Amino acid sequence: MKFSFHTDDVTKLQTGIVGLLCFEEGFAEGTIFRALDKALDGLLVKLAAEEQFKGKKGQSVLLHTHGRVGATRVLLVGGGARKDFATPDLRGFGARVIKTGAQLSAESVTAVMPYTEGAVQERAAQFLAEGALLGAYRFDKYLTGDRKKPDTVEEFKVAMSPDNVEASRVEGVKRGVQRAEQVAAGVSLARDLINEPAGEMTPRRMAEVATKVAKQHGLEIKVLGPKDCEKLGMGMFLAVAQGSDEEPRFIHLTYRPKGKTPVKKKIALIGKGVTFDSGGLSLKPSASMEDMKVDMSGAAAVIAAIGVLADLGVPYEVHAIAACTENMLSGKSYKLGDVLKSMAGKTVEINNTDAEGRLTLGDALAYANNELQPDEIFDFATLTGACMVALGPSMAGVMGNDLSLVERWLAAARLAGEDMWHLPLPPGLRDQLKSEIADMRNTGERYGGALTAGLFLKEFAGDTAWVHVDIAGPASADKESGHIAKGGTGFGVATIVEYLAGRD
Ligand code: BES
Ligand code: MN
Ligand code: ZN
Repeated sequence: MKFSFHTDDVTKLQTGIVGLLCFEEGFAEGTIFRALDKALDGLLVKLAAEEQFKGKKGQSVLLHTHGRVGATRVLLVGGGARKDFATPDLRGFGARVIKTGAQLSAESVTAVMPYTEGAVQERAAQFLAEGALLGAYRFDKYLTGDRKKPDTVEEFKVAMSPDNVEASRVEGVKRGVQRAEQVAAGVSLARDLINEPAGEMTPRRMAEVATKVAKQHGLEIKVLGPKDCEKLGMGMFLAVAQGSDEEPRFIHLTYRPKGKTPVKKKIALIGKGVTFDSGGLSLKPSASMEDMKVDMSGAAAVIAAIGVLADLGVPYEVHAIAACTENMLSGKSYKLGDVLKSMAGKTVEINNTDAEGRLTLGDALAYANNELQPDEIFDFATLTGACMVALGPSMAGVMGNDLSLVERWLAAARLAGEDMWHLPLPPGLRDQLKSEIADMRNTGERYGGALTAGLFLKEFAGDTAWVHVDIAGPASADKESGHIAKGGTGFGVATIVEYLAGRD
């Protein structure tokens, strides 16, 4: 899909649908609404009244124009009260416009950019375009027949109202859309990897994808097999992998900024890459296992994000690390009561084989610390159901050992429009991880499960500034809404890009 930019008379614009965002307060007085209404002999005002369209959130009406204006149809989309509307909500508007266009097999759709002040315009355009690109996302490679519909919308026109057309604004809008295209490409790649069934997206396939990403974006790549991991002493990662017939792969991508100027800082992004989590011997019930192909969403996010960062040419050295494995049960599975030796040297007694993510991440954290000495580490992991109990199905829990880094990370998340919330790492809960026969055990009690998982990881983060993002909830969605598609969401990519390539 191509974007184009239009500052001329909207009533003359040739397009399948022109979408207009309407706030509850006085939308009918807006310049573009009035121009369209006038060209349509007052039909818009009439229709809104007849259909009780008041600009409320979720409301929309569609009007066929029968050739009275350039657009075949006008779509009014409710934005709710202006004071409750946040810039990221524009994703919902962009998604609504593109989805309506797709339903009607339109070749082009148009969205009217709402007026915003100065620099906000660039962000507004970014969210609008992200909404369009991500709203158009579908994972339909396994559909056949009628359900596999071709994409019809080739062009997304961004219309700017006459009081909104100074050159600087238009340039801002173009920059915003370009950024959206880069972010959405990363998010869509992550979604594709997550949505692919676990039978396909094995650790070896993850490594193949990462190799492709490395080629495409000019990254260095190292893929470690079981032998290499053994040499490095990754006893926890390998224990999780040992019950499976699929070999594990430890993936390490590196982006180095071009030029000789010393890099500003070195960042490690670690993603949980359990391509299927059966629970192991602590087997999950079928209903909880059904979606466990999503357990590599953290890995998908970091692999996709580093490609975007390379395209943007960020001034930091960035490492994306994903310890990819299945968590299966067989005669070779790791057992409850086993004591594992981690890469960091600490020993861990297993009291639940379904708490496998922290084991794989513990060794990945040690790898990052030992091999790279990064300034900052971020990990992304579908780690605990408890985090969803705490924060609901679409918010990530954020923990860390450096308050200022946590706050900078949360600020980026807010700008990127991804919901994240700071959770504590209470030292008092650390006792739950004590073991009689090893340095620690891998799970604590039920209450506070997201926090004891965080406390477990903290042991392996060492003195490096570290942020842990539990994405068990937001990594996937059970229904579509706005720019979020059902299935993998690509959560995390947008905030990583914002954090490392933010503009204000
Ligand atoms: N992959 C799961 C967590 C998860 C749950 C992700 C739901 C996405 C949706 C993780 O490996 C797990 O099984 N966690 C256990 C931890 C427990 C054994 C301490 C859990 O949350 O039940
Ligand atoms: Mn598990
Ligand atoms: Zn898991």
